[in-house]
Parts: sequence; structure tokens; C-alpha cells
Amino acid sequence: MKKIGVLTSGGDSPGMNAAVRAVVRAGIYNGLEVVGIKRGYAGLINGEIQNMDLSSVADIIHRGGTILRSARCLEMKEDEGFKKALNVIDIFGIEGIVVIGGDGSMRGAEKLSKAGIATMGLPGTIDNDLAYTDYTIGFKTAVNTVLGAISNIRDTSASHDRVSIIEVMGRHCGDIALYSGIAGGAESIIVPEVEFSVEEICKRLIQSKNRGKRHSIIMLAEGIGNAYDITKEIQEKSGLEARLTTLGHLQRGGSPVAYDRILASRMGERAVKLLMEGKKSRAIGITGTDIRDHDISEALSMKKEINMELYELAKVLSI
Ligand code: F6P
Repeated sequence: MKKIGVLTSGGDSPGMNAAVRAVVRAGIYNGLEVVGIKRGYAGLINGEIQNMDLSSVADIIHRGGTILRSARCLEMKEDEGFKKALNVIDIFGIEGIVVIGGDGSMRGAEKLSKAGIATMGLPGTIDNDLAYTDYTIGFKTAVNTVLGAISNIRDTSASHDRVSIIEVMGRHCGDIALYSGIAGGAESIIVPEVEFSVEEICKRLIQSKNRGKRHSIIMLAEGIGNAYDITKEIQEKSGLEARLTTLGHLQRGGSPVAYDRILASRMGERAVKLLMEGKKSRAIGITGTDIRDHDISEALSMKKEINMELYELAKVLSI
């Protein structure tokens, strides 16, 4: 192995830069030539390739976003686009690729590896929706960002005796809502993985009010459906004034927390090591405190489940 490429793809996440830095530095440390592929698979298809040296990744470990930029690329799923990508890999003499991204990006990585390109997948997404890893790069930062927002919203919610409903990202996964809800002391957490009843939520709100609680926070995962309609229903059925805040893309930015920087650094270095060992198709994750690698296809076939212990804990503590 002489030359490897690294790309970031799909929705960006805090810590992607730390992962790029780790791949570049570990690659150069081990005598490899490293190139950066810009704008994910879109840049791969179009040949947007740049040489990476040690200084190209200086001063980025603390930055959100991705210096390589990112894109969602439908062309990669089509035969013509995929062939173009393989052609660029061949022309540039890239022998191994590290893909940093979420579920869709991992499927692109799987496709590349099936076409014979040594490919390593690093889980870079705020959603924490990949079953083969306890945590994805960026998730813990996003949860902290949400916590900051909960604190601010709690202030105004208390002043106005309101129910504040906070909608967070996560696609079909409720982890951002669950973790930030527990850490932020939310009264209810609504996630797509667990059935919920608006009547039940309203009953709890009214009971809390009768006990003297003047305001409440409800976390809502975006995968649940129309947040505006749910807010309206809660307001109507509880008779309490409710306000919806959709946090949106502010959850995707910001300086990564230490955990994400370290996770990204460990995973990036492991990806390079595996490529040098001649491994072809691995998805890198963390289980407990161990960095582990799995066959990409097997990793993608695992089903992500919500942590019911945490979900029940939230219920107990929000009594
Ligand atoms: O996958 C990350 C994520 O932020 C999801 O939580 C969200 O549903 C989606 O991306 C938003 O995508 P976009 O930035 O393309 O609007």
C-alpha cells in the first residue's frame, strides 16, 4: 500500500476534521502518500483530489465542519457515476480509501469494497444511528450543543409557565433526544423507537402542574413526524401553553468535545493500520472502550436499537 485517500460524506459532524487529521498524520507517519477527496463521493466522481501533507491538517482538530467539505451524492448510487468513481481511483493510483460518514456513506464504502477497492468506514454522524458502534463521531458534541439550548429554553419556559417542546435531529434514531433529555432533565422524551401517547404525556403534564411544577421540557426526535402537529395536540389536550423550538442545523456545528476528538483520532489511526495490514472492507466502531473493526456488510446489517434502560431511567427521574 503506497497511496490512500480520505473523504467525508453526507451530513457533516463535529470531529470529522479530527478524523481526517488522524488519517493523514497516521498515513504519513507510516510512509504513505495521502490524498484528500473533496465533497465526498461527488468529488471522487469528478476527480477533485488534493495532496495532503502534515501542515494541511494543522490547526483543525478543534474545528467543526470538515475541511474536505461534504455532499450527499445520488450519482454514486448509479452505475455511470460509480464507474466514474472507479476510474478516478485508478487514474490517481489510490489503493485504499477511508470514508468518514453516516449510514448512506457506509453503503457507498461497501459498494467500493465489493468492487475490489480496500475501503475503511468511519462512523461520522451526529445521529448515533449505526448499530455496530456504541458511539459515532460527533454525537456527544451534538448532545452537548442541545443541552446548551435546553438551558436557555428552560429560562424562558419558567418565566412564562410554558411547556417547551424541543425538536432535535437524528433521522430515525432517538438517541440525541434520549441522551440530551436525560442530561437536561426533560419531563418527557419522544423517540421513534418507542410508541407514545399524547394523552399519557398530557396526563403527566397536568399531574406535574397540580403538584406545583410551572413549566416542562419535552424532547422530541425528528423521526417521530410532524412536530408542529404534536405541539398543537399537546397544547389542546393539556390546556397548557406550549411552544415548539426546532434546533435544526445548529446541532451539526461547533467545536468537537474531547470524547469526539479522541474517538476520531483513534478510529482514523486504526483505519490506516488496517489498510496497511491489507484489510479490504472494514467498518470501525467502538464497543465499551475498545476500538473494533467489523466487516462492512455485516456492520450495516445490524439493527440499531434504542437503549431501553436509559429510556426507562428517564421516565423514573421525570416523575
Ligand atoms: O444525518 C445527519 C442529519 O443531520 C440528520 O439528523 C438530519 O435528518 C439530516 O442530516 C439533515 O440533512 P441535511 O443537512 O441534508 O438537511
